[in-house]
Amino acid sequence: MSKKIRLGILGGGGNSLVGILHRIAAKMHDKYDIVGGVFSRDWDSNIEFANEIGISSRRVYADYEIMIKEELKLPQDQRMQAVSILTPNFLHYSMAKRLLENNFSVICEKPLTTTYEEAKELRSLVDKSGLIFAVTYTYTGYPMIRKMREMISQDAIGEVQKVDAQYYQGWINPIIHSSETRMDTWRLDPKKSGVSCCIGDIGTHAFDMLEYLTQLTIDKVLADLNYLYDDNKMDIDGSILIRCTNGVKGIIRASQIATGENNNFAVMIYGKKGGLKWEQENPRVLYFMQEGKEVQILKSENIDTDLLTEDAKLPPGHPDEIFDAMANIYKGAAKAINHQEYDPGEFPAIIDGVRGMNFIESVVESHKKGNVWITIDNK
Ligand SMILES: NC(=O)c1ccc[n+]([C@@H]2O[C@H](COP(=O)([O-])OP(=O)(O)OC[C@H]3O[C@@H](n4cnc5c(N)ncnc54)[C@H](O)[C@@H]3O)[C@@H](O)[C@H]2O)c1
Repeated sequence: MSKKIRLGILGGGGNSLVGILHRIAAKMHDKYDIVGGVFSRDWDSNIEFANEIGISSRRVYADYEIMIKEELKLPQDQRMQAVSILTPNFLHYSMAKRLLENNFSVICEKPLTTTYEEAKELRSLVDKSGLIFAVTYTYTGYPMIRKMREMISQDAIGEVQKVDAQYYQGWINPIIHSSETRMDTWRLDPKKSGVSCCIGDIGTHAFDMLEYLTQLTIDKVLADLNYLYDDNKMDIDGSILIRCTNGVKGIIRASQIATGENNNFAVMIYGKKGGLKWEQENPRVLYFMQEGKEVQILKSENIDTDLLTEDAKLPPGHPDEIFDAMANIYKGAAKAINHQEYDPGEFPAIIDGVRGMNFIESVVESHKKGNVWITIDNK
C-alpha cells in the first residue's frame, strides 16, 4: 500500500486554469496520489476528464456531497485524506465546511470564501477538528520568495520602512467595455466571485505576500477602487494605502485593466540598510540593493523542470517555476498532514485565508465609505 497522501480534487477540470498547476504540484515531491474527485459539474466532462488523467471511474463522483458519503464508506486506509478545492470562489465555503465536518484535511484555493464571516466559521472548524487546512497563495512557494523572507528575518535589509506590491494584469480589458462580454467570466459576477473581482482575485495575493515576507501585520487600509462603468458591479483595478501595526507604511496596486500586462506581480521591501525586489515574471532572480554598493543579483538554482509536460499550459506570464512554487506549498502541507515537523512559513494556513477575506471586505468598505481608513481586525 502506498504511503502517499490520498488526495481528492474538487474542480480543476480540463477547462480550468489552476487544475494542471495543482496536479503537477501534488505529484512533484511524490507526497500525494490523486485518487478521485469531482472535476466538473457536468457528468460527461467529469468522467471524460477523469479517464484522461487516469483516475478510476469508481472514485469519480457527481458532486461533493456524494463524494464525501461514498468515501466515508471506504476503509480508512483507502479513503481520501485530503481534498483540494479548485472551483470558483462561491463553492469554497460549502465544500470546505462539509469536508472539515467529515474529517478530511483541505487544500483550498484563494480567496478562501466569499465573505469574512464564512472564513471565520471555517477557521473555528479547523481549530476544533485539528485538521490541516492550506490556502494556496501560490507565490509564497517560490524559492526566491522564501529566500527573501529569510533574508528579511535575518536583518539583511535592516528594519523595514516601506513595503510595495504591484499586481498588474490586462486580461479584463478586452471584456470590460461591453456589458455582454462581461458575462463571459464568473470573476465579474458577485454571486460567484464575492464582493470584489480584482482585489479578491489578485490584490489578496499582494496582501498575503507582504505579510508573508515581512512577518508584519497590516492593520489599516485606505482604498480607491475602479469599476469603470456604473453597471459594472465589480472592481477591476485599485490602489490601496496600507499601514502595519508597527507603523510601517506602504501600498498595494492591483489591476486587471493594465492593458498588455500578463501576470506582472512585483514586490519591493525596503529597510534601513537595503532593499529587496522580486518580479513574478522573472522569478529566479532576486535583486538585493544596498546603500553605496552595486546591486546584487541573487539567482535560484537546481530548478527541476523535468515534470513540465507539453500539456502544462498556463496563461502567459506564469513561468515554469510556478510549478515549483505550488509544489513547495503541497510539500509543506504534506508534512503537516503526516504529523511531521514543519515551519509555519512552509504553507499558508487557514489564518492567512481568513486575513485575506478580512482584507478584501475592508478594502471594499474603505472605497464605498468615500476612501476612508478602515482597521482590519487582527483576532
Ligand atoms: N493561486 C493562484 O494563483 C490562482 C490562480 C488562478 C485561480 N485561482 C483560484 O482558483 C479557483 C478556480 O479558478 P480557475 O481560474 O481555475 O477557474 P476556472 O473557471 O478556470 O475553473 C473552475 C473549474 O471548476 C469546475 N467546477 C465548477 N463548478 C463545479 C462543481 N460544482 N463541482 C466540481 N467542479 C466544478 C469547472 O468545471 C472548472 O473545471 C478560484 O477560486 C480562483 O480564485 C488561484
